[in-house]
Amino acid sequence: MVVPGSQHKMYHPPKDLQKDAHVPDFDRYLELYRKSIEEPDVFWKEVASDFYWKKPPTGQILQYNFDVTKGNIFVKCMEGATTNMCYNVLDRNVKDKNLGERVAFYWEGNSPAHHEAITYSQLLGQVCRCSNTLKQMGVRKGDRVAIYLPMIPELVYTMLACTRIGAVHSIVFAGFSAESLCERIMDSQCSILVTADGVYRGEKLINLKQIADEALEKCREKASATVTRCLVVKHLRTQDADVSNKLQTPWDAACDVCWEEVMGQVSEQCEPEWLDAEDPLFILYTSGSTGKPKGVLHTVAGYLLYTSLTFKCVFDHQPDDVYWCTADIGWITGHSYITYGPLANGATSVLFVGIPVHPHVGRFWEVIEKYRVTKFYTAPTAIRLLMKYGLDPVQKYDLSSLRILGTVGEPINPEAWHWYHEVIGQKRCPVVDTFWQTETGGHVLTPLPAATPLKPGSATFPFFGVEPTILNEHGEELEGEAEGYLVFRRPWPGIMRTLHGNQERFESTYFKKFPGFYVTGMGCRRDRDGYYWIAGRIDDMINVSGHLLSTAEVEASLTDHGAVAEAAVVSRPHTVKGECLYCFVTLKDCREFNRTLVDELKRRVREKIGPIATPDFIQNAPALPKTRSGKIMRRVLRQIARNEKDLGDLSTMADPKVVEVLFNHRCETAS
Ligand code: WTA
Repeated sequence: MVVPGSQHKMYHPPKDLQKDAHVPDFDRYLELYRKSIEEPDVFWKEVASDFYWKKPPTGQILQYNFDVTKGNIFVKCMEGATTNMCYNVLDRNVKDKNLGERVAFYWEGNSPAHHEAITYSQLLGQVCRCSNTLKQMGVRKGDRVAIYLPMIPELVYTMLACTRIGAVHSIVFAGFSAESLCERIMDSQCSILVTADGVYRGEKLINLKQIADEALEKCREKASATVTRCLVVKHLRTQDADVSNKLQTPWDAACDVCWEEVMGQVSEQCEPEWLDAEDPLFILYTSGSTGKPKGVLHTVAGYLLYTSLTFKCVFDHQPDDVYWCTADIGWITGHSYITYGPLANGATSVLFVGIPVHPHVGRFWEVIEKYRVTKFYTAPTAIRLLMKYGLDPVQKYDLSSLRILGTVGEPINPEAWHWYHEVIGQKRCPVVDTFWQTETGGHVLTPLPAATPLKPGSATFPFFGVEPTILNEHGEELEGEAEGYLVFRRPWPGIMRTLHGNQERFESTYFKKFPGFYVTGMGCRRDRDGYYWIAGRIDDMINVSGHLLSTAEVEASLTDHGAVAEAAVVSRPHTVKGECLYCFVTLKDCREFNRTLVDELKRRVREKIGPIATPDFIQNAPALPKTRSGKIMRRVLRQIARNEKDLGDLSTMADPKVVEVLFNHRCETAS
């Protein structure tokens, strides 16, 4: 594990931010933190008092077992209380807080000409219509609904409609392949699929409906088709009729339902379904190290409290803010910090469907100027990409509205941190480097902008209710300055409850290695000031542009090709993506390694998983380095990929000659 040193200059919170901040200084942070650890029930009950409960929480707030040796792992927050997510993020704002006329979302299209403002009242109306539509299509409490939509308002309408009627949404990022969509639909046995005709991503037109149809066809082939109806938003038709005609969206009247037609026919009123605090809210798939994605399950009340409080404190939400998170709702960042956290706070957000470099490389800065964005949250990979274009595209726009900047998804390198802080934040805006995971539901290690002195590259300290610790290989806790496995000793309300349909995998993945702790899979260092520095992953996962990919899943896609006998995928540093995929493939006898094959393999991975998983390097590996027991030595492959000649101890390798051969076939440049 290599992490940057702690001898950094500290950046102190700006005084003007401290005046009205929710957590105005470090002492207040410590005081609240102590309370959240020493009296968690009192702490979270106070947070809960902001929300509407049909039946209020009583008794013990958090119940759990984190120790596999003592029985099943479970976490429960306010079980027995009843509430509704949608009611809390919409009706409560409209009716109790009088925010009906406030803009919930400024939707900004792929082209600057397409935009729309949606108020809280309008949002509530659309969500109720969608709820009634889903009900009409047969969706009932507890049913799973698959959503395969781009970043358009209908995505938010659908997810909130599910929560209103007690259905469980399973959103699949609209860049995933038909195969990945099918796998996810089957795993959670969804009864309805909601998708769109198509969408533009930059210059590229994506025919989503066709991919969705392929996915449903694959589900049928696998003989476990559960989806009976497909609700289709005619997004392109409303944006660009010419393209829509050319696209010729495939249509099956027996299955497909047109969004625009049904939404007009149903009522704008819909009673929310009152759910238990521990009823499921959504499933979201994340890569697993065995290759099969894991259906992370979150429940209603804990997730509401946690995303709402983290959003409020980490972005120090104020009523006149315009907040923009550039993530896609298909990932957890979008779930927690585009939809639920901001809406629970009555915030005004930008919802953006485009990409950072279309129609020009100043697009992000243009949008910030257009809406006078005050809080901006993006990924290090986007910062690194935009840094390459220099100052000109930034200086064309007025960024003086910005007050707080955030990053998420991967470690931020100091160069990117400084550029973000100086060029975008004009040295005025704290940068909150938020560490968290799909599984954690919300931020777990993060600065608070008015309270925490920053060290570039450190996610700093735990959020309220979170108790991190660092263990060595033997599971012993390390005190003070230390480096090892990052784990958490107790749950907070927003942590996942299980993996959908697979409690055993849930326990073995996160709780078995070190009984008594939730294991994050990350290496981490604590410096002498107590700051946490996230290092790389310790499992076989690779973080490409903030997207977690499983090496096993990519390897399975490669070996799926008839020419490939064996494949091993490792990470290699990449200046924009952070890490990228470097693949070693051993071909079957008499197959030739050439350009055509490399292209076919890349296409295969794209088709199986999606464009985000496209390998950068594919190298011919006549043999792979293995231990005598036949285990692939990934450490050695990582070093070959990086052209590191000093390979250290190779005494466990069955045939050390393999190494030289692999160095001879190394890819210098991307394949
Ligand atoms: C990585 C995204 C360093 C980490 C919210 C984690 C980070 C994985 C940071 C989760 C950060 C996220 N610094 N690494 N601030 N934030 N990561 O589930 O590897 O898509 O385990 O959730 O992203 O990715 P996921």
